[in-house]
Amino acid sequence: MAPKITVIGTGYLGATHAAAMAELGFEVLGLDISTEKIEMLAAGRVPMYEPGLEDLLRRHVAGFEGSSGRLRFTTSYAEAGEFGDVHFICVNTPQKHGEYACDMSYVDAAVEALAPHLHRPALVVGKSTVPVGSAVRLAARLAELAPAGEGAELAWNPEFLREGFAVEDTLHPDRIVVGVAGERAEKQLREVYATPIGEGSPFIVTDFPTAELVKTSANSFLATKISFINAMAEVCEAADGDVVKLAEAIGHDERIGSKFLRAGIGFGGGCLPKDLRAFMARAGELGADQALTFLREIDSINMRRRGHMVELTREAVGGGFLGKRVAVLGATFKPDSDDVRDSPALNVAGQIHLQGGQVTVYDPKGMENARRLFPTLGYAPTALDAARGADVVLHLTEWREFRDDLDPAELGEVVSERRILDGRNALDPDLWREAGWTYRALGRPRA
Ligand code: UDX
Repeated sequence: MAPKITVIGTGYLGATHAAAMAELGFEVLGLDISTEKIEMLAAGRVPMYEPGLEDLLRRHVAGFEGSSGRLRFTTSYAEAGEFGDVHFICVNTPQKHGEYACDMSYVDAAVEALAPHLHRPALVVGKSTVPVGSAVRLAARLAELAPAGEGAELAWNPEFLREGFAVEDTLHPDRIVVGVAGERAEKQLREVYATPIGEGSPFIVTDFPTAELVKTSANSFLATKISFINAMAEVCEAADGDVVKLAEAIGHDERIGSKFLRAGIGFGGGCLPKDLRAFMARAGELGADQALTFLREIDSINMRRRGHMVELTREAVGGGFLGKRVAVLGATFKPDSDDVRDSPALNVAGQIHLQGGQVTVYDPKGMENARRLFPTLGYAPTALDAARGADVVLHLTEWREFRDDLDPAELGEVVSERRILDGRNALDPDLWREAGWTYRALGRPRA
């Protein structure tokens, strides 16, 4: 009989994983400690913006007309323990306040709460991104707390989904990585993934520490690629070169590859920045800090991008922000998401505001979250409204609607000065210049 699945933690990762597992034919129970979240999900609503996720959820959540009814939600660990054969832990692991290290309290709490309800053999599968060494510790704790004892096993199965592509990445992963300590766990995970999810995806079986490290090293590599091209952008600016052409040219070398070479105001979000820092902190604890000192530079190149954008804006408005109106297009850390966690766009907007600029922000999906995080900024319902009377327009998150739908001529009618700074190298410079705008982008020649 197919194993029954619980998914603990219903954020981006958990909500998507739960719906995807139901799509593959499993009976699924999603658990979260937030009653509000559970009520929303049970009513077929997703608490964040993620393309395709709400449709997937509604195809399976019990109570929806025409749904498979295979997906239900609860706040009860007792119910989860009773129900599940395989329990996926998908809770978040944020950066500790004021430290580089990762806050493991949600993962620890999930294991502590679930384990006492495991009365029969069960597999607990960690998906959250954790410091290397966590799985060994949690496996011991699980065996200690579960009435099933050694019958309650642990596996680590990192998740590589990108926000904005969560459904696609979950249903068609590049690879499946599982860290196990025994054959039973491997067999059970092979069963779970012997579905369309696993078709064509390499299945890599390894030990706990390697599985944990695959995730943190993958994210560090991606961050390194972005900071590398942003460092090249700094040099291009100094030498009057063009980083966009440079990225295109080096990207044709298959060994380098063209992805993740878009220069701009840098990376943000709930993963790359904090994973990088937690990785450095953990390496320090292991006495391997020298191996990762370069990541400090990757982080600082990244943070410098934000400051540089603020300086270019100051220069564009004549040297000081007082009395200047700045329109900010984009608030989320990337397009197709409403996530504003560690968003470079909001950080730049916030810095300009703190230095006296009159900032008005527009974002297609991130307004509510941005307002909550930064209530003192100005907000407008459309890009055109945000740009009204602006001395400079900043393009800080590359939403498709900015590239495809913004009409430079129309926008030019409402601004005070036709000046635009492209912080994402995503707009067409010729289009803007032809409409009479002074267009400037990071790492590209001025005119
Ligand atoms: C990332 C990883 O890609 C994913 O595998 C992991 O599971 C979680 O972390 P995500 O945070 O959704 O996913 O965003 P991603 O698409 O990786 O972008 C991260 C940041 O880098 C964004 O702020 C984006 O704007 C920036 N970025 C990305 C660049 O500045 N340039 C690029 O070329 C690519």
